[in-house]
Amino acid sequence: MPLSKRLLHQDQIGRALSHSNPPSPKRFVKQGALTGRIRVPGDKSISHRSIMLGALAVGETRVTGLLEGEDVLATAAAMRAMGASVERGADATWRINGVGVGALLQPDAALEMGNSGTSTRLLMGLIASHPITAMFTGDASLSKRPMGRVIDPLSQIGASFEASSGGTLPLMLRGISPAVPITYRLPVASAQVKSAVLLAGLNTAGITTVIEPVPTRDHSERMLRGFGAKLDVGEENGERVIAIHGEAELQPQDIVVPGDPSSAAFFVVAALLVEGSDLVIENVGLNPTRAALFDVLRDMGGQIEELDRREVGGEPVADLRVRHSALIGVEVDPAVVPAMVDEFPVLFVAAALAEGTTTTTGLEELRVKESDRLAAMAAALKLAGARVEEQEDGLTIHGTGGTPLPGTPEGAEVTTHLDHRIAMAMAVAGIVSRDGVALDDTGPIATSFPTFERLLESASA
Ligand code: S3P
Repeated sequence: MPLSKRLLHQDQIGRALSHSNPPSPKRFVKQGALTGRIRVPGDKSISHRSIMLGALAVGETRVTGLLEGEDVLATAAAMRAMGASVERGADATWRINGVGVGALLQPDAALEMGNSGTSTRLLMGLIASHPITAMFTGDASLSKRPMGRVIDPLSQIGASFEASSGGTLPLMLRGISPAVPITYRLPVASAQVKSAVLLAGLNTAGITTVIEPVPTRDHSERMLRGFGAKLDVGEENGERVIAIHGEAELQPQDIVVPGDPSSAAFFVVAALLVEGSDLVIENVGLNPTRAALFDVLRDMGGQIEELDRREVGGEPVADLRVRHSALIGVEVDPAVVPAMVDEFPVLFVAAALAEGTTTTTGLEELRVKESDRLAAMAAALKLAGARVEEQEDGLTIHGTGGTPLPGTPEGAEVTTHLDHRIAMAMAVAGIVSRDGVALDDTGPIATSFPTFERLLESASA
């Protein structure tokens, strides 16, 4: 009998298969210049990690600027189900009272991860070195995504798994304590896999080591250190080597979450493309492992200025002033892919309006995100009238040189495949199109950026 039938109650299957809300279709139409000052919500990666580490520290961690999107709320619910107190105060400060490393409790129901790959993979790491069993379920998008990449290293530490066919959710994880410390070389450039192994190492006696041939976002390393874990980060033969000393004791922290550069990206591209725009986006996180999109857009001729560079919560931050610019096509260096892995959907929109051709390569990972983002964006942009060629590992886009895309034909809709970033990227395409771009569903936007539509309207009010 398949795992899904054996382990899930009827109501859990219902929740696991798709977003429960009916779709919210919407047409995004031409909009005026984006001006003034806006703030995007807190960084999704940092928000997840602040709840997880807060839940493992003994005492009260306070978090301000937390992203209150569905993905992060799934992490909060899971940590509550394993014994931590995670509460939002009236002043929007989140207070987390943790249980201590090694003291997570057995959840008494499946952990419902919704659309969130980050929640799933990082929590699999945390739980793997605890003597508890957990069932993970997710929506239709998450249930297609590969979990083998975390099952492999976590099996090496001694955890065991019963996954659905192809190594997907629904999945049962049996943690192990004591776990075995491992040295693991990442076969894919993935901060989620790196973080899963490091988080498992927190409750593993000895030293757990991750070797990273290609650097990925380093929020886990920064925050683990901030909470007092002992972490050695070095370089050997051009590869990053990260070693965590196990059986750590974490100290509660006060955390200020900077604005999410991946959310700011949609407004940066919108302001570059809409004539007359001059927009300041305040408090944008500019960690160098995240900020490559802004460099690529500058190479394309985009006017993006950093104002008041400073540090917030151990991360570099600045206000970005973005002005309408004539963009030119570029060849994107595949070496920068991990530092802008979530920003390609909106870069493709910028490329579709640039002068000349933009080529991208090395993007195989985009095929296993919330959707197959190469196929989804190629189809969406073509439907809106762009000239796009799809290769196995990238897209080639021939831009219009600033002429608006025609938009989606009457009666046709972009399919967003439960993918928030496809929805937001194509919303941006809509506001610079002649006739507008119709989306089949804006619901998924709430996973990472619940205020997106309101902010987009207010920026050009
Ligand atoms: C994330 C890492 C990235 C990114 C995801 C968030 C994280 O995934 O796409 O949105 O918070 O660690 P991979 O590391 O798997 O590429």
